[in-house]
Amino acid sequence: MKTTTIAASVALVLGLSTVTAAQAEDVEVLHWWTAGGEAAALDVLKQDLETQGVGWQDMPVAGGGGEAAMTTLRARVTAGNAPTAVQMLGFDITDWANEGVLGNLNSVAAEENWDEVVPTALQAFAKHDGNWISAPVNVHSTNWVWINKAALDEAGGKVPTTWEELVTVLDAMKANGITPLAHGGQPWQDATIFDAVVLSMGNDFYQKSMIDLDMDALSGDEMTEVFNRMEKLRSYVDENFSGRDWNLASSMVIEGSAGMQMMGDWAKGEFVKAEQTPGEDYLCIRFPGTQGSVTFNSDQFAMFGQDDGDSDAQLKMASSIMNPVFQSAFNVVKGSAPARTDVPNDAFDDCGKKAMSDLAEANTANSLFGSMAHGHAAPAAIKNAVYDVVTQHFNGELSSEEAAGELANSIEAVL
Ligand code: BGC
Repeated sequence: MKTTTIAASVALVLGLSTVTAAQAEDVEVLHWWTAGGEAAALDVLKQDLETQGVGWQDMPVAGGGGEAAMTTLRARVTAGNAPTAVQMLGFDITDWANEGVLGNLNSVAAEENWDEVVPTALQAFAKHDGNWISAPVNVHSTNWVWINKAALDEAGGKVPTTWEELVTVLDAMKANGITPLAHGGQPWQDATIFDAVVLSMGNDFYQKSMIDLDMDALSGDEMTEVFNRMEKLRSYVDENFSGRDWNLASSMVIEGSAGMQMMGDWAKGEFVKAEQTPGEDYLCIRFPGTQGSVTFNSDQFAMFGQDDGDSDAQLKMASSIMNPVFQSAFNVVKGSAPARTDVPNDAFDDCGKKAMSDLAEANTANSLFGSMAHGHAAPAAIKNAVYDVVTQHFNGELSSEEAAGELANSIEAVL
């Protein structure tokens, strides 16, 4: 009784600091991982932090590609109430770093030698002015096609390696009475397919148009051909495609009501969650004509809002994210490749192994490019200009020639 009373008064006296200490051991995490496979991957991170005594306050903002999450982030920062850790992509990280509001992770990065193990392409976003400002948790890529194996067998069984072969398979699937292409009509999803189609016109063309933003490449004949291909692909989606979430499109392929989906490898998280096996239930192939090349994006966690330096919880979170054992466990579930070069591929399925080897190969062959659709080719203003034109064209509001011209004009307007 006496002890309890003393403890109670001590707690009362120390009330304020007890609360502060508890908060310092929490992270509030803003993210857009709300689909089944994404949430399962997020759980791996949550549990890992729990074992280290770091509490988790969840701040999910649904919406693939993270546009809605970034709008919420802006509002929270403006209101002086930034979440402590935020999932972010590419140029968004750079933009926030330029505003001087991101925490500095140098101490943990130096201790754990991140410089040696994180691929240079990721360091370009995770470091700013020589300082580590975010912890990369994965590498995704956008030029994948996820194919229902039985549907492909019924469509002749030939894995398409060129645009023409792709069209042949899609036509055969249509004739077989299924939806050839599972797609959700949302700007970021349209733009994800666009990444792959641009890349299918060649590495030089992707570099010139999406990275260098060369006006001739953006408005020329090759870009018109890209839009022609987009128009052709549009003819294979079902009539309910508008607004559909990407994971529902993945389900259509998993169930076999659709033949294939063109989507980044977060889609594989859905196949994993549904306990499907690559090679048996489904196939993962690079978008025909892009074999050997990769358009990548990397989810990274940046830390916000600590006036008095980075909290222990934030540094612990950064350290957990970069742990090689965690990187394997997390990315097996997420569908992505690890953000370190030294993680063994043993635990990964065939698609995961391919993701890892494609990445290494593309990196050596100079055929690794930042994804425009997922914020790694250009800053948000340009990405949004691309979204607008691609979606207007996909919805039949612009001809292919008009779209190419409009793409160059609208990018020029925000440069
Ligand atoms: C992110 C993925 C996420 C996907 C769909 C991408 O931008 O990099 O982690 O799964 O959006 O939400």
